[in-house]
Amino acid sequence: MTALRIDGKAFAANVRTQVAEHVTRLKADHDITPGLAVVLVGEDPASQVYVRSKGKQTVEVGMKSFEHKLDRDTTEADLLALIDRLNNDPAVHGILIQLPLPSHIDSDLVINAIDPAKDVDGFHISNVGLLGTGQKSMVPCTPLGCLMLLRDHFGSLSGKSAVVIGRSNIVGKPMAQLLLGDSCTVTIAHSRTADLPAVVRQADIVVAAVGRPEMVTGDWIKPGAVVVDVGINRIEAPEKGLTEDGKAKTRLVGDCDYASCAEVAGAITPVPGGVGPMTIACLLANTVTACCRANGLAEPQGLTA
Ligand code: GUN
Repeated sequence: MTALRIDGKAFAANVRTQVAEHVTRLKADHDITPGLAVVLVGEDPASQVYVRSKGKQTVEVGMKSFEHKLDRDTTEADLLALIDRLNNDPAVHGILIQLPLPSHIDSDLVINAIDPAKDVDGFHISNVGLLGTGQKSMVPCTPLGCLMLLRDHFGSLSGKSAVVIGRSNIVGKPMAQLLLGDSCTVTIAHSRTADLPAVVRQADIVVAAVGRPEMVTGDWIKPGAVVVDVGINRIEAPEKGLTEDGKAKTRLVGDCDYASCAEVAGAITPVPGGVGPMTIACLLANTVTACCRANGLAEPQGLTA
C-alpha cells in the first residue's frame, strides 16, 4: 500500500482563507479588527524566524499584528508589566509569548499571567483545566491543527484507537485530551513505554511528537493506520554535499521514517508540509475565536475543537 499524503500546506491555506473571511465580516459588520500580540525575548534564531512568519501571516489575513521584541536580559518584572498592558489593551485579542524564555524567567509564572481569554496558545492553567474537563477553552495550536487534519480525513474519530507518542504540555497531553473529546480510545506513550512498537501497532491513529528523528518505522504501523508526524528535526544530509564553509548540508525530517511508514499506512503527513503549516494557521484561527468571544459574537464554525 502507498499511503495518501496529507497536504497540510494546502489545508492550512484553506484555514487562513476562512480566517480572512471572518476578519472581513468582523470589520464590515462590527468595525472590529482582531489583533495578535507576539512577544519575543532574546535573539534565538529559530524563534525569530517563527515570530516573523507569524507577524506576516497575521497581516495577510487582515488582522493587526503587534510585535514586542525584548532584550535577552529583560527582567521577569518587565515582562509581567508588558503582559499586564496587553491584557488591558482592547485592540489585543490574542497574546503569544514565544517559548523558550531565557532561564532567568519563570515560564509558568509568565504564561499564567496572560488573561486566559487572550491565551491563544492555550497554555494557561485555566485553559489546560477547561480542556481536561471538556469545557470550552483556547486549544493549543499544533494539536488543534492535527485534530483538524484527522477530522477531515475520517469524518468521525469515534471509537478509533489512537496512540500519541510524546507527553509534552504543548503537544502530547493536549492532543490526547482532544482525541478523547472526539471519543477515541487514547494511549499516551513516551520514551519509557515498554515495547513501544507493539503499542503503536495497535493504533488506527498515530500522532508522533517525541522529537527523535525518524524513530517510528513502517514495521511499527498497523496496515492502513493514519500517521500524523509532529516532529521537526534537522539532520545532516551527506547526499546533498557540503556547504560553502565545508559543513554537511542538512534536511528536515519528522519523528517518522516517511518512506517505510508510507508503505504501510493508509495516510501520512509529510515533513515539511504536513502539521507544520497548520500551527500558525490555528494560531490565527484562535485569535479570531478569542476576538469573537470577547465581543459576544458567534465564533467561526470548524476552526475550534
Ligand atoms: N515555541 C515552540 N512552539 C511554540 C508554541 O506553540 N507556542 C509558543 N508560544 N512558543 C513556541
